[in-house]
Amino acid sequence: MVDQASNSAPAKTLDYGDRGTVLVYSDGDALAHAAAQTFVQAMAEAVAARGLGYVAFSGGSTPKRMAELLADHPYRDQVPWPEIEFCWGDERWVPLSSPERNAGVATRTLLDHVPVAPSRVDPFPSPDEVPDPKLAASMYGTQLKTIFGIVDGVPRFDLILLGMGDDGHTASLFPGTAAIHEAEAWVVAHYVDKLKADRLTFTPPLLNAGRGVVFLVGGVGKAETLARVLEDPVDVDALPSQVIRPVDGSLVWLTDEAAAARLSGPQGS
Ligand code: 6PG
Repeated sequence: MVDQASNSAPAKTLDYGDRGTVLVYSDGDALAHAAAQTFVQAMAEAVAARGLGYVAFSGGSTPKRMAELLADHPYRDQVPWPEIEFCWGDERWVPLSSPERNAGVATRTLLDHVPVAPSRVDPFPSPDEVPDPKLAASMYGTQLKTIFGIVDGVPRFDLILLGMGDDGHTASLFPGTAAIHEAEAWVVAHYVDKLKADRLTFTPPLLNAGRGVVFLVGGVGKAETLARVLEDPVDVDALPSQVIRPVDGSLVWLTDEAAAARLSGPQGS
C-alpha cells in the first residue's frame, strides 16, 4: 500500500473516500519530493515483502522532476534498483527516437543514471519493431503475464504513477473513448481523434488492480479539472480520471496548492 510521503509533510490532507486521499504540498518542488519519497517507500516495501517491486510510470512533464530527484542523492541510495521492474502505463505510437516517447523521457531522466537491471526495463513496443499498434498492445499485455509470472488473475503493480490532463484524461484514456470502458484487455491501442494520433494504454482493469495508485497533479492549469474529477458527479466519459478506483489498493493524489486551489473539500468537511 502507498501512503503519504513520510518526511515531507503535506500542507493539507483531504479524504475523498473511494475517490482517494489528496495530499496538498506547498509547491511543485515539494510535490516532486513527495513523489520521490512515495516511490522510495513503495519500492522498499514491495521488495522487502515480495523480493521485487513493480512500477508503471506515466508520461507527461509532471514526473520529470521526481525522476531527476530519484536519480540523485539521497533518494537514489534508498532504492533497490536491480529488484525493480519498470513498465509504462501508456505510450505514444511514435518511433523509439521520438522525444515524445514516454519510455525515452524516463530513460534519459532516470533509468540511465541508476543501476537498474536492463532486463527489467519493459517499454512498450514501438513502430520501429511492430507494424501495428494493436499488435503492440496485445504483445505488451502478453509480456505482462511473463513479467509477473502469472497464469490467471490481473497483474498487481506495487505502484502505478498517473498524471491527469486538463481535459480529465489519465494514462491514454481520453474523454469519449471506448478504452475507458474496456473490461477485459489489460492494454489497448486506440486512435485518439483529439490528438490525431495512436496511443497505447493500460485499461481500468489493470490500473485498478494496483496496490498503490498515485496521481501527480501540479500547477494552476489543473485546478478546475481536479475539482471536477474529485467533486463533480461521476461521468467517466467526460472525466476519465474518475474511472480510477483501485479494487484493493490505495489511491493517493499528490498535488500542490495551485492545483488544489479549487477544491472545496470532501462532502461535509
Ligand atoms: C502521457 C501521459 C498523460 C499525462 C497527462 C498529464 O503519455 O502524456 O501518460 O496521461 O500523465 O497528460 O501530463 P502532464 O504531467 O504533462 O501535465
